[in-house]
Amino acid sequence: MLRIEEIKTITVIGAGVMGSGIAQTFAQAGYAVRLHARREASLEAARERIARNQEAMVQAGLLSEGAARDALARIQSTTSQEEALDGCHFVSESVPEDLTLKRDVFAALDRLAPRDAVLSTDTSGLPISAIASATQRPERVVGFHWMNPPHLMPAVEVIRGDRTADAVVDLTCELARRISRVPIRVEKDVPGFLWNRLQLALIREALHVVEQGIATPEAVDQAITTGLGLRWAAVGPLRLMDLGGLTTFHSVASYLYRDLANAEEPQQALAAKVAAGETGVRAGRGFYDYPPGGTEAAIAARDSRLFELLKVSQRWVA
Ligand SMILES: NC(=O)c1ccc[n+]([C@@H]2O[C@H](COP(=O)([O-])OP(=O)(O)OC[C@H]3O[C@@H](n4cnc5c(N)ncnc54)[C@H](O)[C@@H]3O)[C@@H](O)[C@H]2O)c1
Repeated sequence: MLRIEEIKTITVIGAGVMGSGIAQTFAQAGYAVRLHARREASLEAARERIARNQEAMVQAGLLSEGAARDALARIQSTTSQEEALDGCHFVSESVPEDLTLKRDVFAALDRLAPRDAVLSTDTSGLPISAIASATQRPERVVGFHWMNPPHLMPAVEVIRGDRTADAVVDLTCELARRISRVPIRVEKDVPGFLWNRLQLALIREALHVVEQGIATPEAVDQAITTGLGLRWAAVGPLRLMDLGGLTTFHSVASYLYRDLANAEEPQQALAAKVAAGETGVRAGRGFYDYPPGGTEAAIAARDSRLFELLKVSQRWVA
């Protein structure tokens, strides 16, 4: 098994939204990165995206201009899989979320990457074990699930597949720490891993509350951004119960659970919007309206808050 000090070259497969941010993050941490896409145009677009990401980080005071330049120089982009994988130590796959495609890619990674290289996938929810079984080395395949935007978000999920070796999970967690990411260990290859299980539980209740007329979308969002979300950045739900007293939470759970949403399909509040083409910022309407300029304003408002919060959270994870 590779030791952490032996990991020097990272290959990133897929140069879209996630792949480019992942390549940027490894390069900023000092690793030699090979970024692979099938077309030259995708690589060009990825370099532009990385440069834009870096510019925003420099403006926010999260990165120096020199460090940004040095990182860019560490990213070698190529349309050749063979060249991308030759002599690499760790692979981060970020091609579209399609099991057949990912299995094809992993079969190729298995043929071309050095025998001791670790192969990781950024799948949002496909079973790690189903991807790993396309290879002859399922013990070296692991979930390494980044949160979007990957160049900013401080945590990654490290997911154990049914056959992933303990040493591979440990090594991947250590690698995450070396690139200033907090590894969240997920010990079972379950649908949604951890983040999406927590997130969708909340989203199901949020939709229920809106559907029942209990609160408006604005009120639900404010309850999180100015209330629960802030508190959860300071203390997670389990320690929160310890701090508040388990008796209280036991008592609330005993009468409240039965009243909470338990829909097994996406609710009408969501399904009707999707059916009407009101799919969010790109369509100009979702739970909110986005007149011309509104989409950019909504994204800029989110990003400026995120930058402020990240400056604080970087101190916590350092
Ligand atoms: N976007 C998110 O919010 C997010 C968050 C976490 C994880 N993910 C996961 O990350 C993965 C990538 O998502 P994305 O949003 O970056 O998608 P994307 O469509 O932006 O990028 C995927 C890229 O892979 C390229 N590609 C397709 N087949 C390829 C192949 N055989 N070899 C090399 N490149 C290939 C595509 O041309 C495209 O550029 C998915 O599994 C997704 O579920 C996405």
